[in-house]
Amino acid sequence: MAFSRAFVALVAMTGAALAALEVDLESADSIRRAARSVAYDLMTFYEGNQTGQTVGILPGPPPAGDYYWWQGGAMWGALIDYWHFTGDATYNPQIMEALLHQTGVDNNYMPRNWTASLGNDDQGFWGMTVLLAAENVFPNPPVDDDRQWLALAQAVFNTQASPERHDDYCNGGMRWQIPMSNNGYDYKNSIANGCFFNMGARLARYTGNDSYAEWARTTWDWMVGVQYIDDEYNIYDGAHIQENCTVINRAQFSYNAAVFLQGAAYMYAYTEGDEQAVWKDRVTQLLNATIRVFFQDGIAYEVSCETGMTCTTDMLSFKGYLHRWMATTAQIAPFTKETIVPVLKTSTEAAVKTCTGGTNGRMCGFKWKEGLFTTPPGTGAGQQMNVLGALSSYMIVLDETIEGPATNGTGGTSKGNPGAGTGDSGEWWRNDEPPPMADKVGAGFLTAFLLISIMAMLAWMSMDEKTEEQIFKERAEKEKKRASYLFAPRT
Ligand SMILES: *[C@@H]1O[C@H](CO)[C@@H](O)[C@H](O)[C@H]1NC(C)=O
Ligand SMILES: *[C@@H]1O[C@H](CO)[C@@H](O)[C@H](O)[C@H]1NC(C)=O
Ligand SMILES: *[C@@H]1O[C@H](CO)[C@@H](O)[C@H](O)[C@H]1NC(C)=O
Ligand SMILES: *[C@@H]1O[C@H](CO)[C@@H](O)[C@H](O)[C@H]1NC(C)=O
Ligand SMILES: *[C@@H]1O[C@H](CO)[C@@H](O)[C@H](O)[C@H]1NC(C)=O
Ligand SMILES: *[C@@H]1O[C@H](CO)[C@@H](O)[C@H](O)[C@H]1NC(C)=O
Repeated sequence: MAFSRAFVALVAMTGAALAALEVDLESADSIRRAARSVAYDLMTFYEGNQTGQTVGILPGPPPAGDYYWWQGGAMWGALIDYWHFTGDATYNPQIMEALLHQTGVDNNYMPRNWTASLGNDDQGFWGMTVLLAAENVFPNPPVDDDRQWLALAQAVFNTQASPERHDDYCNGGMRWQIPMSNNGYDYKNSIANGCFFNMGARLARYTGNDSYAEWARTTWDWMVGVQYIDDEYNIYDGAHIQENCTVINRAQFSYNAAVFLQGAAYMYAYTEGDEQAVWKDRVTQLLNATIRVFFQDGIAYEVSCETGMTCTTDMLSFKGYLHRWMATTAQIAPFTKETIVPVLKTSTEAAVKTCTGGTNGRMCGFKWKEGLFTTPPGTGAGQQMNVLGALSSYMIVLDETIEGPATNGTGGTSKGNPGAGTGDSGEWWRNDEPPPMADKVGAGFLTAFLLISIMAMLAWMSMDEKTEEQIFKERAEKEKKRASYLFAPRT
């Protein structure tokens, strides 16, 4: 008895030791092997290709599962980079299928199903992923499909550049949520504007069209104007319009730092002369702040939530964007490379040490600085995305042949459509015509939810927002009309 128990324990220990992720950061093959295993484990969280599940999304959105809609889009971006950096095309068919399934009927990443949690940042993450597909020269959709990567990214950008998304509260800037009925419509935040800034800079570089850069410049100036970016280049979360964005939520999140750092690096790469010098300085300062705030002893640390482990599922995925977007920064703004590479190295080394969890003994944890797997938060798609991003993007250090992001003049093949999504902001709920009835189950619930939210919003707004009240009432009337279509029996 005693012998067999000891034997079982020994076998279990050996099993765990074998399963734990081992990686030598000096060896490209070792990194590829480790990344392949992390990618495989990441895909165990994806149920979209199982019967009855929705293609393209991680289980959710809450309460149906842990993950909001945007994180699926973010995950495909991590996997596009994984393919680009390591050459493993295993998941490419699923990436293609997912990105095309979630475009929504207007091909602008505003699918009806997810309206109740549709923020500019959510739409922006899908937009940044399809733009990455164009930049990494990911295989194009069939030629006769208008949903080409660049055109989709332009559609997202154009809907966000529409006047309807830019009101005068706080002197400009975009709101967090898109539908006025959503919680958070009255909040203007850094990530929504950061995704827009990032896409503007990247579209300018990819297409050479300065209209996109103009929006990036405007957005940067606005961020500094409202002091969401302060003199030390800290980037704060956001503020409500009721106080003209002056009562700032000072929480700092690494995806905000990363999205602006990478966008600024693209502006540096895109501009010339005096303007380039300005962006070079901004990149330098943003990088300095990013390392100061989000790395401890050279290890990524999600400073606003990691200490007390109050990170939400969203926040558990930020370290991956941080690593990946710093790596791109090192590629397109090469003067940053000597600062960035050592940090990515120490951080990635610590990250893989956490991959000893789960039933297979190699799922990754979140507390990289502790260098071991911890519960909470246990296993999750974000934890896998982070380590996948860290490992695969570190390949830029070992393999000099890895290309930086392409442009239409340097190998990019994605077909664009500068007019995609223009003319309106895709806010179908503002129009009178019934939407195409693609959706069945859930529409009634969704609409009921929207109506309740609108009523709550109106009741609340009427307390101190006289000027907008009338506008909201009119919109609510339209919303009700629309609801009658949605509730109407279908044939
Ligand atoms: C779902 O994807 C996995 C991983 O690529 C694959 O093994 C499986 O066959 C797919 N299932 C279906 C139904 O397509
Ligand atoms: C919307 O939901 C329906 C019903 O669950 C599903 O069949 C469809 O694939 C979903 N569409 C998107 C874009 O997720
Ligand atoms: C440049 O982008 C703007 C804004 O999307 C668009 O209106 C214009 O047609 C584009 N110009 C060219 C030459 O593609
Ligand atoms: C609101 O904030 C903006 C930007 O900080 C400022 O330019 C504007 O004067 C402020 N408006 C009011 C009414 O305080
Ligand atoms: C950031 O700037 C400070 C002050 O100029 C400097 O001491 C520090 O070394 C910089 N850190 C990085 C990582 O560049
Ligand atoms: C890239 O696109 C821009 C804008 O459409 C165009 O002016 C330029 O000629 C293109 N460059 C190449 C090499 O195709």
